[in-house]
Amino acid sequence: MSNEQLEQISLSEHKKQAQYRHVVTVCVSSGCMSAQSDLVKKALEDAVAEKELDHTCQVKGVGCRGLCSRGPLVSVQPEHGRFEQEILYQNVAPEDAGEVLSSLDAEPLARLQCPTDTPFFQRQHKIVLENSGRIDPERIEEYIAHEGYGGLVTAVTELSPGEVIDEITRSGLRGRGGGGYPTGLKWITVAKSEGSEKYIICNGDEGDPGAFMDRSIMESDPHRVIEGMAIAGYATGANIGYIYVRGEYPLAVSRLKTAIRQAQKLGFLGDGICGTTFNFNVSIRLGGGAFVCGEETALIASIEGRRGTPRPRPPYPAEYGLWGKPTLINNVETFANVPSILRNGGDWYAGIGTEKSKGTKVFALTGALQNTGLIEVPMGISLREIVYEIGGGAPDGATVKAVQTGGPSGGCIPADHFDTPVDYESLKELGSIMGSGGMIIMDESASMVDVARYFMEFCMTESCGKCIPCRVGTVHMHNFLDKICKGEARYRDLTMLENLCEMVKDTSLCGLGQTAPNPVLSTLHYFRQEYLDLLIDHDQNGRAPQALVIPVEA
Ligand SMILES: Cc1cc2nc3c(=O)[nH]c(=O)nc-3n(C[C@H](O)[C@H](O)[C@H](O)COP(=O)(O)O)c2cc1C
Ligand code: SF4
Ligand code: FES
Repeated sequence: MSNEQLEQISLSEHKKQAQYRHVVTVCVSSGCMSAQSDLVKKALEDAVAEKELDHTCQVKGVGCRGLCSRGPLVSVQPEHGRFEQEILYQNVAPEDAGEVLSSLDAEPLARLQCPTDTPFFQRQHKIVLENSGRIDPERIEEYIAHEGYGGLVTAVTELSPGEVIDEITRSGLRGRGGGGYPTGLKWITVAKSEGSEKYIICNGDEGDPGAFMDRSIMESDPHRVIEGMAIAGYATGANIGYIYVRGEYPLAVSRLKTAIRQAQKLGFLGDGICGTTFNFNVSIRLGGGAFVCGEETALIASIEGRRGTPRPRPPYPAEYGLWGKPTLINNVETFANVPSILRNGGDWYAGIGTEKSKGTKVFALTGALQNTGLIEVPMGISLREIVYEIGGGAPDGATVKAVQTGGPSGGCIPADHFDTPVDYESLKELGSIMGSGGMIIMDESASMVDVARYFMEFCMTESCGKCIPCRVGTVHMHNFLDKICKGEARYRDLTMLENLCEMVKDTSLCGLGQTAPNPVLSTLHYFRQEYLDLLIDHDQNGRAPQALVIPVEA
């Protein structure tokens, strides 16, 4: 496959699309599917057949549009000369199909219309999600028609592996799985590691509560992930790739399987890719849904068929990974950035974002917001813009109190810090982390102690039990938090909780235990009074109130 052949496929796909006067798209990703968008699509197809519009109107399933809370989302693509903007419909039911089709040659259906000139759509910057909601994720031709596989073809036919790595390094891309490690540096280490057998692993475990960025990318644009992995294979000298996906993501798995088959058929995977000597293949490994299996060494153990528990590092997987061989492990979103970087150049990517955090970041917005769903924004955007402009603020006039970023490893940031730019360093300075992109918004009704207890319960349940500080410490920290929430704790319990947090943080074996105290520490830092108010022996100064002081008989 050459760039010219890609161009041919792209042209014929565009020609095919151009034969339709109307293209009606239906989101068929998990969020909308849970609201029966598959039935909406079927109803639209039936209505098209009934009205004999098969030759003029195409009904197409597409990936996530981002505004998942308003699903099922249906769009009518712009029609030259009549309207230039697409028309988006929200909360569409199968019964609406006839009306939607009747509106194609009339005025848009005001009853269902969702405005697209709002900050939610206008303030985003889409790179990773550029095809989400636009292409049919089950057709490789559509991916190619949107410049898909152009990055891989350029890499293997025009660049040396070293030049590919230079491009990634120049882009400033950092790992989107949570740690923010420079991707180029990791690729250099794997490329330099001795050995003819090397592996690429795509981490699609995504265990954080409230996070669905990676699921959405895999469901909406699976070829992008495969292309990123193949480019990484070429750059580092690896011939085998694994995508580790949790079993709870059946739609992502099915679309990835289809995409792998299609890529093999067109020669983007397999032997002699694009007529070169580069061989690369990808297969899927299913995870059982344990949060700890997202940790890279536990994930590797799980693929090897062992129990998924972390091991001490070094050695890092880049030198000693799967089956003891050099292994590059990157997150789904990290790989999904790679094709765009190869197509547009590292300098282009480095021009977006901040000095140390380049590019964009995908976030899953959940909680007390008007617009919940999936967004992609440039690094450096403020939390205020995300919460109030893109997210539309809390519903029903409620006041936003805090944002939780980074899931169980992260922290809660209060509203008076919302002018902080969203980048790796700034969030860390506030006692939270970027994490993989979960963002939970809380309004005034939320008890921050309860939030801390919820995350600690999660860590306690998900602790693999291999090391004592985490196995025992999370249980005790949870007990203290539970006692405080129930109004049964004393001031000394709070002191013991704080000491325990420091101990677990400093002595646990892996990131799960090392970061489990973060939600407690950040809520204690910003919302200490809420803890104090729940203690049975406190006054405003943290001392025992007079009512509880029992006089000692002389
Ligand atoms: C408890 C725990 C869970 C993790 N879960 C994930 C996950 O679901 N997805 C992910 O990409 N990284 C996860 N990580 C981070 C991985 O260990 C690893 O750093 C990451 O996959 C590297 O990819 P990146 O450099 O592209 O971010 C987790 C780490 C820990 C400690
Ligand atoms: S810190 Fe927790 S999850 Fe990590 S190895 Fe220790 S017990 Fe297991
Ligand atoms: S799943 Fe349909 S808009 Fe997100």
